[in-house]
Amino acid sequence: MGDSETIKQQPAGHVCHRDKHCPDIFYFSGFDNTFESETVEGALPRGRNSPRKVPFDLYAEQMSGTAFTRPRHLNQRTWLYRKQPSAAFKHTFDDTGNFFGKADPARGTLDPNAMRWMPFETSDEYQDGDSGSDTNFMNGTCLLGASGDPAVKNGIAIYVYLCKTDMSPRDSDGSVTDSYYMYNSDGDFLLLPQEGGLEVRTEMGVLIVHPGEFCVIPRGIVFSINLLNKGTGKLSRGYVLEVFKGHLTLPELGPVGSNGLANARDFLYPTAWSENEEKPTCNKTLYNKFGSKLWAKSIETSPFNVMAWHGNYLPYKYDLSKFCAINSVTYDHIDPSIYTVMTCVGDETGTALCDFVIFPPRWMSTDPDTFRPPWFHRNCMTEFMGLIWGGYDAKKGFLPGGASLHSCMTPHGPDAASYDKAAADPCEQPTFFSQGLAFMFETTCMLRLTDFALNHKCRDAEYGFCWDGLPNRFDEGRKNPDDGE
Ligand SMILES: [Fe+2]
Repeated sequence: MGDSETIKQQPAGHVCHRDKHCPDIFYFSGFDNTFESETVEGALPRGRNSPRKVPFDLYAEQMSGTAFTRPRHLNQRTWLYRKQPSAAFKHTFDDTGNFFGKADPARGTLDPNAMRWMPFETSDEYQDGDSGSDTNFMNGTCLLGASGDPAVKNGIAIYVYLCKTDMSPRDSDGSVTDSYYMYNSDGDFLLLPQEGGLEVRTEMGVLIVHPGEFCVIPRGIVFSINLLNKGTGKLSRGYVLEVFKGHLTLPELGPVGSNGLANARDFLYPTAWSENEEKPTCNKTLYNKFGSKLWAKSIETSPFNVMAWHGNYLPYKYDLSKFCAINSVTYDHIDPSIYTVMTCVGDETGTALCDFVIFPPRWMSTDPDTFRPPWFHRNCMTEFMGLIWGGYDAKKGFLPGGASLHSCMTPHGPDAASYDKAAADPCEQPTFFSQGLAFMFETTCMLRLTDFALNHKCRDAEYGFCWDGLPNRFDEGRKNPDDGE
């Protein structure tokens, strides 16, 4: 085989992507791929998953994200090789008495009215006099609405987080004082930062997630979240979607074909990492969101002790600027489902439990007789929207860090000013919408809203009046509205 002797390959292994902001952080790429990673060479067993003697005397532990028996193409699991198995963390969990998100999701209120919130600024009023300066992701996340029941693994919850400090805050000398770790037994978290980036530490590695990106932490994976803008005095703010059913995945593409929307190659996965326990005597607490409540136990060593892993049940992140948007290039515009980034499949054929949809900067190039903003509509699905940056072409007063809610069958559409402006626009040229990045969590569920959502000082009491400027009209002389103009 003389030819093979002349072949010279680069010993690069998997192609790794360096984080564009943190050059010491590397990722694998490719949605739902199987990867393997090790912090030291030789830590990953070869040829089998569970050898009698694991390299470096590590322990082997399988983490199953789907039932053992799920079909192969849907099966998700990862093998972890760690300094201590998770079962070794002593003490039982105690009920903290607190709900994650500060509210019992089962006791919310169903309300059909269209709602909007100005940018959420603080959760202090819900902290019983706490200044809020020590709010981290766990105690600074506020439930807006939820539906379903994590106990039967069906439903969703939507939150905003308003944080000022890390889950692992540091002393002035840089050493960690108290460390808080968490995992979610109830479902997957999708984190969407809007103000300030996140350092998301997990058992499998670290993700750096900036506004304009999102990450998913699947059910059960231990994580801790630090803030990239701490010390600036600014709030870290963002949105959270939680799905209790299955897992978030990419939407089917149907006639679109094999490319487009969020391309699988752009999803980034962490590489193995373990925590340097620089101050091993610091207090460590592991929280478990289980049945909507927070359970806690103190632990003696860091759960970030995985020296190697392989599998496909992993956290990941995605940069929304890579989304390949598709829409009509003739007339009308297509339903907003065309902008779906991720979906969680529901019980009814073709109906999502929840879609994550974006309205990114994009060309609008339909014919001159197309009304370009979203049309007036009523929808059997419930639409929760937020804004990462900029503005939205159908509404004034919808601001970054704020939100809106149009529940099942609640009529909505462009406000009067936006309607008149768009109807008068001759649309003679393709235009590039570059004014903002909005998103929508569109769910088949009705949301039970919390007191935080209904009574928050940021709720816009005037929102329902935005359609008041749309007169009742039928002008018999304007069968062809452009005649005479
Ligand atoms: Fe809508």
